[in-house]
Amino acid sequence: MTDPISPSPASPATADRAPLELPAAFGHAAAPTTPGRLAAPVTALPPEVTARTSALSLLARCDELAAYSTLPNGLIRRVYLTNEHRAVNALAATWMREAGMTTWQDAAGNQCGRLEGAVPGLPALVLGSHLDTVPSAGRYDGILGVLTAIAVVDRIHAAGIPLPFALEVVAFGDEEGTRFGRALLGSRALAGTFDPDWLDLTDENGVTLRDAYTTFGLDPQHLAAAARAPESLVGYLEAHIEQGPYLEEADRPLGIVSTIAGARRFAITVNGHAGHSGTPFDRRKDALAGASEIITMIESTARAAGLIATVGHLEVFPNAVNVIPGRVEFSLDLRAEFDEQRDRVWNDITSAITAICEARGLTFAVRQTHNAPAVACSPRLRGAISAGITATAGDPDPMLLLSRAGHDGMAVADVTDIAMLFIRCRGGVSHHPDEHVEAPDVSAATDAFELAVLSLAAATPLPTAPDSELR
Ligand code: GLV
Ligand code: MN
Ligand code: MN
Repeated sequence: MTDPISPSPASPATADRAPLELPAAFGHAAAPTTPGRLAAPVTALPPEVTARTSALSLLARCDELAAYSTLPNGLIRRVYLTNEHRAVNALAATWMREAGMTTWQDAAGNQCGRLEGAVPGLPALVLGSHLDTVPSAGRYDGILGVLTAIAVVDRIHAAGIPLPFALEVVAFGDEEGTRFGRALLGSRALAGTFDPDWLDLTDENGVTLRDAYTTFGLDPQHLAAAARAPESLVGYLEAHIEQGPYLEEADRPLGIVSTIAGARRFAITVNGHAGHSGTPFDRRKDALAGASEIITMIESTARAAGLIATVGHLEVFPNAVNVIPGRVEFSLDLRAEFDEQRDRVWNDITSAITAICEARGLTFAVRQTHNAPAVACSPRLRGAISAGITATAGDPDPMLLLSRAGHDGMAVADVTDIAMLFIRCRGGVSHHPDEHVEAPDVSAATDAFELAVLSLAAATPLPTAPDSELR
């Protein structure tokens, strides 16, 4: 059942927020009045408009989406190109249309919506995040960003503000990489960086990505149609829970992302020799004992270097109580603010794996499954988010945060400038059912996101000859 956003009393954050003052660093002291430029309002929208999208209505929609899952007992797992993906796309499309957008599903299964600007065919400011999840997920990672984006478009549509750009919302179908082991498939398609070799990736049941597209009703030969031309875009903004503890520690509801950490992921196989558990130690080639030493080495190496490493998946073969493990397969996810630092540590780790395996008579193989460089957010778009936070949360100097989590913006950055708004989450917990956000923080985030869009509008010249070919 859909849940139309119904008017509700304005939250304190909505009712009390100050008119938006654009900081000098943003480059505009007031809405432009030059002929040929749109004098977009940069003050808060009226309460009857902002109240259409209360925090409680957004949180109710998060609850509604959480029901689309392949796991029992209220646990959430929703992955790319499945019936659950189809269902949440349909629900998001309904909400996009209620917010005044025209909607379509792109060639990669991303759900898109568009509100035209002052004249049809203008380049678009894209607001987005993802609707897929990890296994046993929370209900806000990605989802809250999509709903915040729809809420902002709803407000701007309801206020009848003619913007100097179109507004689009994209609900990406795959950010987490849960099903096919490769992250950002939806946003890579939008950025035009989808590698056709990925069509041969398989899920845990041996279904290829190629076949999954076909079953979903998409043509894997036409994925390129999802790609957006840089000139059709003015930028990409994403609101997301922080997935870290720093806003909570600083007692602030909202922050700005400086950089999204670069990530590399590997599938590592350690090969030994399976055998009877009665075999003496000096005759064994125990792949699990070797993998265990490797995993603790990875942790200590990463700690010493000041970056983040996670081994989150491990399989033991033959996995029997009285058989020495003959083979172990595990994952490694390595993240850092600087790609050179991350790559240097990876080289150290591979040298240490070689030494550990040699000492134990084991062999190993490594396959890289993901490589995303660190992405710095655009100063222009960061300035708009900063202006939004300052006007909404009264924070004169919003906190800048490194995102250690990956985001769709990492892929979108290949085709347009990006920036991100972070929302405090309880205990920094994410990728877990305990993920939690407070309604006043969601209210402040929606207001700040709206004002970021309006401040960008105030700073954007209206093109004299909109090109209807741009989309
Ligand atoms: C996505 O949430 C990631 O950072 O892996
Ligand atoms: Mn995630
Ligand atoms: Mn996410």
